[in-house]
Amino acid sequence: SSNKRVDHYGGSLENRARFAIEVLDAIRQKVGKRLAIEFRISAEELVEGGMTLKETIEFLKMIEEKIDLLHVSSGVITSPSLALRIIPPTYLPRGSNVAYAAEIKKHFRKPVCVVGGLTMKLAEEIVEAGKADMVAMARTILADPESARKYEAGREEEIRPCIRCNECTRRTAPPRFWSIRCSVNPLLGREWEMVPFYRKARYERAVIGGGGPAGMQMALELADKGYTVTIYEKEEELGGMLRYATIPPFKQDLRDYLSWLVRAVRGRKEIEIRLSSPLTIEEIRRERPEVIILATGGEPIVPEVSRDVDWLWVGDALAHPERAGGKVLIVGAGLTGCETALYLAEKGRAVTLTDMRPLEELIEESPSLLRALLPLMEERGVRLHESTRVVAIRNGFVEAIDGGRHLLRLPFDTLVFSLGVRPKRDLLTHIRASYPCPVYLVGDCLKPGKLIDAIHSAFTVAKEI
Ligand SMILES: Cc1cc2nc3c(=O)[nH]c(=O)nc-3n(C[C@H](O)[C@H](O)[C@H](O)COP(=O)(O)O)c2cc1C
Ligand code: SF4
Repeated sequence: SSNKRVDHYGGSLENRARFAIEVLDAIRQKVGKRLAIEFRISAEELVEGGMTLKETIEFLKMIEEKIDLLHVSSGVITSPSLALRIIPPTYLPRGSNVAYAAEIKKHFRKPVCVVGGLTMKLAEEIVEAGKADMVAMARTILADPESARKYEAGREEEIRPCIRCNECTRRTAPPRFWSIRCSVNPLLGREWEMVPFYRKARYERAVIGGGGPAGMQMALELADKGYTVTIYEKEEELGGMLRYATIPPFKQDLRDYLSWLVRAVRGRKEIEIRLSSPLTIEEIRRERPEVIILATGGEPIVPEVSRDVDWLWVGDALAHPERAGGKVLIVGAGLTGCETALYLAEKGRAVTLTDMRPLEELIEESPSLLRALLPLMEERGVRLHESTRVVAIRNGFVEAIDGGRHLLRLPFDTLVFSLGVRPKRDLLTHIRASYPCPVYLVGDCLKPGKLIDAIHSAFTVAKEI
C-alpha cells in the first residue's frame, strides 16, 4: 500500500516483488547455507490498495525457494488503527493471524510460523491442529520469560500472563524510543539498573498495609529476599482497585493476571494474608514489624454534589451497573471512564462521556488501548465530548463549555465520576507519631497511576530494603 513507485520496482506484482527478491538474493549470497532466512509478511494489509491474501500467496510462490521459514502477521505499521492488528491490545481477539497461516500453508511448501496474541496453550493447539508449523510470541515472553519452560513442565498456572496493555510498545516506539518496560514484569529492561540493588535484605519482618497490586508485588519481592511478610487487607478479597478494572467481560487478560497474582501470593509460605483486616496502629504494635509498607491505594476524587443528584463513583458503576439509569453521563474519559462507558453501553445504557482534555491527550495516555476502544465505543453509540469543561451540576443535567466555547446542556439519569484517585495515607501520620520504624509508600498511595506504576514502585522499594 505504501509503494507508489512508477519504475520497475512499482506497479505490477512482479515489479513490487523485485526489491524483496533482490534483498533475499543478496542475503543468501552472503550467508549461503550457514544461516536460515526467516521472512515476515503481513498476509493481508487490510488497507485500501494494500496486499490481499490472494496476492500475498502469489508473491510467496516467487520467494518460496529463497527462504527457509515464513512468519505470518497482518496489518500495516504506518496506520495507527492497523498497527493494532500487528500488536493486538486486550480488547481484540487473540490469534487473529492463525486463519491466514493455515490458508497459506495449503499453498506453500516451506515451514510457516504465526504470530499475534498467542499464549502457550493457544500455541500448542495451533501446532497440534496443523494450522502452523511454528509459533512466535513477543509479549507473552516479555511478561514472563519463563513461560515456555513453565508450560513444558506442566506448570501453566505459574505463568505470569501478559495483559496486552502495550505499555512495552508505547515506550519503545517512535517518537519516544525509551527503554522497554512491562506492566507485570518489573525486571524487564531494568536488569542492569537493578544489579546494585540486589543487596541482602536489611530487615527480616515486614508488614504491608493493602493487598492491591502494589502490596502483592511488594510481598512477592520481599518473600524472594527471605522476609516474612503479613499483608493486611481491609476487604474480603485481595486485589484492591484492580478488582473493579477486571469486571467488564472484555477484561479477561486482566482477570487472568489478577488470578495469577493472588495465586502467587497465596502460594508463598513466607506471606501471611489477613483479609477483612485494615492495618491499624494496634495491629502494628502487636506485630512489631521492622519495616512497614503502606500500599493503601487511593480514594476516589468526587466533587461536591447536591443531594438530589443521582451519581455514582466509577468503581461502583462497574460493580453495580444495575444502579445506573437509562441515560448515563460519565465525567472523565480516561481509560477507566472509556471502559466503563463501553461496559454500560453493552448493558443497554445510553452513554455520554465528557472530559476537559482534548482527544489527542486522552489517547496519548494509552494510545494502543484507546485506539482499539474508541471504535468499539462508537459502535455502541457512546458519545464523547472532548475539551469540554463541566461548569455546573444540576438535577438531571450538567452545564458544560466545549472547545468552541459553546454552553452545552448534557442530560443524565445517572452521573458517573471517573476523575481518578488521591493518595490515601492517613495511617502514615499515626505511625510516625506512635511507632518508630521505617515506612515506605508504594502504588497509588505514593502517586496515583496505572498498574505499571504500582508494580514498578513496589519493585524499586523492595530492591532497596
Ligand atoms: C516491544 C515490541 C517491539 C516490537 N518490534 C517489532 C519490530 O521491530 N518489527 C516487527 O515486525 N514487529 C515488532 N513487534 C511486533 C511483534 O513481532 C509481534 O508481531 C506482536 O507483538 C504480536 O505478537 P505478540 O502478541 O506475541 O506480542 C514488536 C512487539 C513488541 C511487543
Ligand atoms: S507491557 Fe503489557 S503488553 Fe507489554 S508485555 Fe507487559 S503486560 Fe504485555
